[in-house]
Amino acid sequence: MAETISDLRDLPRPAAYAELKEQMQLVMDGIDDPIAGMATLSALLYGGLGFLWAGFYRVVPGDLLRIGPYQGTLGCLEIPIGRGVCGTAAAERRTVIVDDVNLFPGHITCDPKAKSEIVVPVFGKSDDLIAVLDIDSDDTGAFTEDDRTALEEIVKWFRTAA
Ligand code: SME
Repeated sequence: MAETISDLRDLPRPAAYAELKEQMQLVMDGIDDPIAGMATLSALLYGGLGFLWAGFYRVVPGDLLRIGPYQGTLGCLEIPIGRGVCGTAAAERRTVIVDDVNLFPGHITCDPKAKSEIVVPVFGKSDDLIAVLDIDSDDTGAFTEDDRTALEEIVKWFRTAA
């Protein structure tokens, strides 16, 4: 039976992410398909924490990131590695937090309502970059070290799946 997504918006972020991680483990029990994992995590982040946009850009041949799975408004379909916030996180293999997207040179606008964002690299079994997790908020400064720590921990799931 499908789980109901818990509303985590009133919890402090570390507690919210701890619950989200538990829910991810429950839903994904016995399934090691990375696309199913990306779809599930997008739904949990978007539905549980009320972000404007939550989803993945997957690494595809040609040094590109290609969209999906995700939840939210339409995103840009492809981003060259090295461009924008997503492409920077992918090129540098590190989490990038942007408090105000207007102040990030080269930020790629998909939804003008997005004010801040966090992009976390996602690695597979052999430490290969398989995707980035991108979360956008309609508030400035919505992401802190708490988000970085928790999200980097949560995406370790893909090291066992991909
Ligand atoms: N803002 C991102 C593009 C992706 S969307 O926000 C969904 C970037 O600069 O890479």
